[in-house]
Amino acid sequence: RQNERESLYIVLNFAKNFYQNQLQNSDEGQSIGLSYFRERGFTNEIRQKFELGYSLDIWDSFSKEALEKGYSAELLEKAGLLIPREGSSSGGYDRFRGRVIFPIHHVGGKVIAFGARILKSDSSSKANQPKYLNSPETAVYHKSDVLYGIFQAKNAIRQLDHCYLVEGYTDVISLHQAGIENVVASSGTSLTIEQIKLIGRFTPNVTILYDGDIAGIKAALRGLDLVLEEGLNVNIVLFPDGDDPDSYVRKVGAEAFKQYLKKASKDFITFKTEVLLQDAGDDPFRLAAVIGEVVSSIVKIPDAIKRQVFFRRTSEMMKVDEQMLITEGNKLARRLS
Ligand code: UTP
Ligand code: MN
Ligand code: MN
Ligand code: MN
Ligand code: MN
Repeated sequence: RQNERESLYIVLNFAKNFYQNQLQNSDEGQSIGLSYFRERGFTNEIRQKFELGYSLDIWDSFSKEALEKGYSAELLEKAGLLIPREGSSSGGYDRFRGRVIFPIHHVGGKVIAFGARILKSDSSSKANQPKYLNSPETAVYHKSDVLYGIFQAKNAIRQLDHCYLVEGYTDVISLHQAGIENVVASSGTSLTIEQIKLIGRFTPNVTILYDGDIAGIKAALRGLDLVLEEGLNVNIVLFPDGDDPDSYVRKVGAEAFKQYLKKASKDFITFKTEVLLQDAGDDPFRLAAVIGEVVSSIVKIPDAIKRQVFFRRTSEMMKVDEQMLITEGNKLARRLS
């Protein structure tokens, strides 16, 4: 087992170097991949820092080279790099073709997987392909345990005692380029307990920066009770509808972006209460449901003083008696334990 993991790290590192080399030194990589990154405003320096690459738009450029270098087809398949040809006992084709490549590193810096972005979603041959193709689960890659960017961010997170959490690969990269290095991405899924514990190793203070669309808000609300249970302090910033951190920082620049983070940052409980209240309007039954929802989040907070602060604050927002919330909270807590 240990040997297999080591072999996977080696071939994944080989693949990372291969894709970087294709990006920088092949005609196709330069004319398509490099110009794609330039159009997105990524500097060469940031490209190197995240070890970005390119996979040629042919069936087997990577696996051909890897097999020649002596890596077995079996290992390439186990690494998620080679897809075996159906109904045939040998041969296969590259998983990643004609895409820009984002290597995913584990917290210690080894490459464990790749995300690969399509270049133009309108080209007919790729009409039904996902925007990002990711490595499958392997012996070294468990998607739910991983935060993209944690290796590049961990020192800054520790130093600043604060972590920004974004949705996407390019959000992480753009923020680094803007000088914000304490940032990691959940890569589109809702947060898992493993991801939360990983952040918690470096800081208890998290600010979630999610896309300002309905899906982003829902994703934020979903993951959050878990985060509270872990005792993390959670704030949230929403971006104007249609923007994500990457597009917004490019639109307004690094300084205005940082100002926005300060101004728009709200603690999670306040945010959740606001969203739910807006949704409920003045329907008394729905208001009652909101009170239950908010109390159920507050009781997840392990620290009694913080709970007290939030009971006070939300009782004002919902215009209900603070003592009633506390009583409801106690009932709920007793039922949970
Ligand atoms: P987004 O759709 O917000 O993409 O998905 P993005 O990060 O802003 O990417 P650009 O700016 O269009 O290039 C957020 C994250 O969800 C995951 C990726 O990790 C992506 O960064 N995702 C999204 C996938 O894994 N597959 C997809 O097809 C789409
Ligand atoms: Mn796991
Ligand atoms: Mn989105
Ligand atoms: Mn996005
Ligand atoms: Mn984006």
